[in-house]
Amino acid sequence: MTNAAFPDLRLRRTRRTGWSRAMVRETHLAPSNLIWPLFVCPGTATEEPIASLPGVSRWSVDRIVERAKDAVAAGIPCIALFPYTEAGRRSDDGAEALNPDNLMCRATAAVKDALGDAIGVLTDVALDPYTSHGQDGLVDEGGYVLNDETVDVLVGQALNQARAGADIIAPSDMMDGRVGAIREALEMEGFTHVQIMSYAAKYASAFYGPFRDAVGSRGLLKGDKKTYQMDPANVEEALREVEADLAEGADSVMVKPGLPYLDVVRAVKDHFAVPVYAYQVSGEYAMIEAAAAAGAGDRDALVLETLLAFRRAGAAGVLSYHALHAARILGA
Ligand code: PBG
Repeated sequence: MTNAAFPDLRLRRTRRTGWSRAMVRETHLAPSNLIWPLFVCPGTATEEPIASLPGVSRWSVDRIVERAKDAVAAGIPCIALFPYTEAGRRSDDGAEALNPDNLMCRATAAVKDALGDAIGVLTDVALDPYTSHGQDGLVDEGGYVLNDETVDVLVGQALNQARAGADIIAPSDMMDGRVGAIREALEMEGFTHVQIMSYAAKYASAFYGPFRDAVGSRGLLKGDKKTYQMDPANVEEALREVEADLAEGADSVMVKPGLPYLDVVRAVKDHFAVPVYAYQVSGEYAMIEAAAAAGAGDRDALVLETLLAFRRAGAAGVLSYHALHAARILGA
């Protein structure tokens, strides 16, 4: 392909007016591209602001239903739920994950009762909100996270969530073989329509700090998650993770964190013809809020520009704590 040369070629011609910019725009961001993560806390009529995530709160189950209605009204197709678990309900084996009456199950059932198929509910599978040590799985005496033993528990956790009405099971634990094990169990139990969105390429990142405050595991976690979450240096390995999860029955895959990993989103999208999602994680949200608060940029513009960047990189959608705000701007 050869371009004309200046002055026949003037790339600014199509940029001169709004209507023309709209005509040549290559990617679009809509509320349907957003998934809104929400934190559930005990109680009723309760809102607990999270200090390290300004503007984000934990909500009691009744309030989660209200937030889900806000999401529907704004055109957001799916919410993602995470529980805050008090120390008293945590244990070494994370058994609360299997309690059919835990916060996640109650919130899922309440949203499904109130809204049915007007919205999807995505539930996170991993043990960190329930373990006393804050790791995503069972640990041996040396603190190493055991793979196969953990997968057995994750299968139980996923079934527990599916029974409560979860539409999309999202394993975020990074154990090997968990997608296949969960898919098999879902099929056996008759949950053939329940999707799996795997956190396929999840990195051991410094951007998860505020999330750990939000679910109550920050002070508990000793060490790091580098023996199961990926090394930020790697992208070929991300492709192998995605390939494995798709072969095991994942319906869609996720890359996480988001903005620092747009190259991974693009690589996955170029290699696999599947929906790819990105998670703009808690530390990224906090970074944008801090920048806006410091006057370094306009908040709404920063939010929309970063979300659009995910779309340009090939993402079908983005999990973002800014989802409701962004959807409202887009719909206005
Ligand atoms: C738990 C999980 C984490 C996040 C989502 N699921 C934290 C972690 O792996 O330590 C992070 C989300 C965020 O930072 O917004 N497995």
